[in-house]
Amino acid sequence: MKIAVIGTGYVGLVTAAGLAEFGHTVIGTDKDTAKIDLISRGSSPIYEPELDDLLKKNLAGGNLSFTSDVDAAIREAGVIFVCVGTPQDENGRADMSQIEGVARSIARNLNGYKVVVEKSTVPVKTSEWIKRVIGLYRRGDTPFDVASNPEFLREGSAVPDFLEPDRLIVGVESDRARDILVRIYEKFRDRVLVTSIDAAELIKHASNSFLALKISYINMIADLCERTDADVEQVALGMGLDPRIGRQFLKAGLGYGGSCFPKDVRALTKIGEDLGVDCGLLRETDKVNQARPGLFLDKVKKALWILKGKRIAVLGLAFKPETDDIREASSIRIVRELEREGARLRLYDPKAAGNMKEVFPPSAAVSYCKDPYEAAEEANALLVVTEWEEFRSLDLARLRELMANPIIVDGRNMFDPAAVRRLGFEYYSVGRK
Ligand SMILES: NC(=O)c1ccc[n+]([C@@H]2O[C@H](COP(=O)([O-])OP(=O)(O)OC[C@H]3O[C@@H](n4cnc5c(N)ncnc54)[C@H](O)[C@@H]3O)[C@@H](O)[C@H]2O)c1
Repeated sequence: MKIAVIGTGYVGLVTAAGLAEFGHTVIGTDKDTAKIDLISRGSSPIYEPELDDLLKKNLAGGNLSFTSDVDAAIREAGVIFVCVGTPQDENGRADMSQIEGVARSIARNLNGYKVVVEKSTVPVKTSEWIKRVIGLYRRGDTPFDVASNPEFLREGSAVPDFLEPDRLIVGVESDRARDILVRIYEKFRDRVLVTSIDAAELIKHASNSFLALKISYINMIADLCERTDADVEQVALGMGLDPRIGRQFLKAGLGYGGSCFPKDVRALTKIGEDLGVDCGLLRETDKVNQARPGLFLDKVKKALWILKGKRIAVLGLAFKPETDDIREASSIRIVRELEREGARLRLYDPKAAGNMKEVFPPSAAVSYCKDPYEAAEEANALLVVTEWEEFRSLDLARLRELMANPIIVDGRNMFDPAAVRRLGFEYYSVGRK
């Protein structure tokens, strides 16, 4: 059975290439023709480790192709993975217009039984709406099934995450759809959890919100640490050694960003509101997270007093390492505020500078540097905003030589405070004296 993947963004592109790698025949499609042209030539429009190679290999193998003719891709396929965006609308709900658009396209091109698989992150009960839309717009009564197979890949390790998943959630309401999806993931039969569609939809929102909550929780603890003699790294270690808690996602810092956690936490809060369930816990999660860039900027102001005219190096712009994605990155708020205060900014990121230039074009106030050392030249302070691995091995003594004032404000706790201070830096981090 041919598989169509609609939407070739971060998730769809990896899904298309990954399903082809599993041996399936896959057509990726997107309404963005420029994107499809690029991808068809074997070039990924996003930076994602290992993706270019996976793409090239499977394009050459002949079982992966791309087209901007969405209708034709739907007609050709028996299984359709829907990977379009579900961004936040102005009220905090998930904007489902891209999903509705795809459902209408599927209805128009329903030339035989198809399974429509929700891979995008969608609110619980979305499958009911997809069924309704397809039912309203299809000609005749060609049968179809809707299923939910939420995606858990992480940007930065999306390819290995997809190719070696720790679990596969398959939400179905018919044996026919279940059998097709289980066959697609045959290789991982023992990792497939079959659930109802509602449960599958909720699992995704509940998982992301829980991880976000864990991050906000440790950031709240970091605030307590800053008012005491406790070091949040020690507290997190002590907590994480409890296997019921675990060590992951207990990293105090600038909070979470990206295209998923912020919008998913808000979407689940709104789902709760719509269903009459108080998800105040999630509102607080969002509130703690939103406060992070402001608290970080307070430290910068504490160190520099007046920001106007100060030369500030900013290391890291992506919302997390190993991606070029800056959606909801804390760097955006930090750069905007510093620029507003009149600072002269010297930005560096290994991969995300191109995307950042679309938000902050190079100007007298904002310049982009080729490496951290160029950014640090004559700087009055250096800020660490994203924890790229390469920053760990920076030659701090050289940085100190280059900077006008040896001040580091580290939003990701990348350095050992004692070691940095020994080198003569004034050092501010998160949840540590
Ligand atoms: N990015 C992640 O790390 C991640 C991880 C898991 C789940 N998700 C979820 O997956 C979904 C997609 O996320 P993304 O980051 O890949 O989004 P994205 O914005 O990068 O990509 C969406 C793509 O869909 C295309 N599209 C929109 N409407 C279309 C239509 N009618 N026909 C054809 N193409 C259309 C767009 O042109 C775009 O290329 C979202 O629901 C997101 O929450 C994302």
